[in-house]
Amino acid sequence: MKQSFDLTIHNLYKNFAQKKDFIPVLKGITYSFCQEKSYAIMGASGTGKSTLMHLLAGLDSPSDGIVALGDESVAKYSTQQRAQQIAFVVQSPTLIKELSVIENIALAGALAGQSWDKSLEYARNLLDKVGLSDFDNYNVGQLSGGQKQRVALARALMQKPKFLLTDELTGNLDHQTSLAIMHFVLELKKEWGFGLIISTHNYEIATLMDEQLVLKDGLLIKQS
Ligand SMILES: Nc1ncnc2c1ncn2[C@@H]1O[C@H](COP(=O)(O)OP(=O)(O)OP(=O)(O)O)[C@@H](O)[C@H]1O
Ligand SMILES: [Mg+2]
Repeated sequence: MKQSFDLTIHNLYKNFAQKKDFIPVLKGITYSFCQEKSYAIMGASGTGKSTLMHLLAGLDSPSDGIVALGDESVAKYSTQQRAQQIAFVVQSPTLIKELSVIENIALAGALAGQSWDKSLEYARNLLDKVGLSDFDNYNVGQLSGGQKQRVALARALMQKPKFLLTDELTGNLDHQTSLAIMHFVLELKKEWGFGLIISTHNYEIATLMDEQLVLKDGLLIKQS
């Protein structure tokens, strides 16, 4: 039987220092995200969605509390171990402008130890899935904001993660493309079995997920 991992947060706090004071953004959140399910995190701008996503991805440390994948604290992972477990498409992803579209995606596989040829082959498969197969040799500077998001998504999926986290992935995309990309991500989830956590301002996108959560006043509230 396939082993399942939950991504769990326990009593999570995050404060940001500001002059002599600090801003409390997350105020003691406890939640368990199952690998089998998909989650949407909503909430007004500035409520801490990106802050929470960075903590879940292990890219920032909490002021207090624990983020764990299975029984392991995410803080104990090396950068490479973390990248193999939890893929994160940040709100404004950076691509390497000296590399072509296909090379940007394949690099994630090469950095994880796969051969360059295998990485390129797999990257082509993913590029096709995100609907950009004709753009493989484009310079990333020639892409629109939404196309760059799709390349970043393909890059994140190169390592077959246990969890995929996306922070406003479809924020720059038109309505139809947003829905198409999210349906594609959900199809891949079914096929590969990764847990999915997205942040979004779009209610229709949020309702495609199994659970809808709202971040408000530093707490995460499950919608009925
Ligand atoms: N590195 C930082 N230093 C100081 N304050 C920060 C930092 N990062 C975020 N904040 C503050 O934390 C709060 C939450 O920011 P965050 O980016 O998580 O919000 P968000 O919900 O993702 O907003 P949006 O919907 O606009 O993306 C904001 O008040 C922001 O100013
Ligand atoms: Mg944000």
